[in-house]
Amino acid sequence: MVILVVLHMVRVFWTGSYLPPRRLNWVIGIILLALVFLLDFTGYLLVWDDRALWAWTIARHLTEKIPLIGDGLALVIFGPLDLEDLCLIRLYAWHIFILPVMLISGMSIHFWKVRKDGGISTPL
Ligand code: HEM
Repeated sequence: MVILVVLHMVRVFWTGSYLPPRRLNWVIGIILLALVFLLDFTGYLLVWDDRALWAWTIARHLTEKIPLIGDGLALVIFGPLDLEDLCLIRLYAWHIFILPVMLISGMSIHFWKVRKDGGISTPL
């Protein structure tokens, strides 16, 4: 999935299909790319083995370091530190529900914008 999205991005860049009026769709695309990476990462964490636990710990600490909103954001994304089992359920909810809903909503806007911009810019 990551490889396909990056190939699509290369195609769009190569053909200059990010130029006006498609600039906003490029930005929407970047948000979709971030959601794909988050889906990938949460899936990796769901293995919940030693490697995943370390990745979860590092991700949590990095999030906490974000100025002003870090602690709150970490709590929302990862849950309270001392309730590890609940953290796994929270991760599962992110991976199978919240992120897919965000991705599908973003893709719908992305497709609508392609049509609104007059369809794809160049013959593929
Ligand atoms: C889940 C991820 C994504 C999906 C499912 C998706 C899907 C599509 C589809 C089906 C089209 C129309 C056909 C085509 O141009 O190939 C399109 C167009 C476009 N996409 Fe994406 N895309 C994704 C991610 C991205 C990313 C990461 C970028 C750039 C950062 C991007 C930028 C664009 C732009 C600018 C267009 C308009 C291209 C044109 O009109 O020729 N998309 N996208």
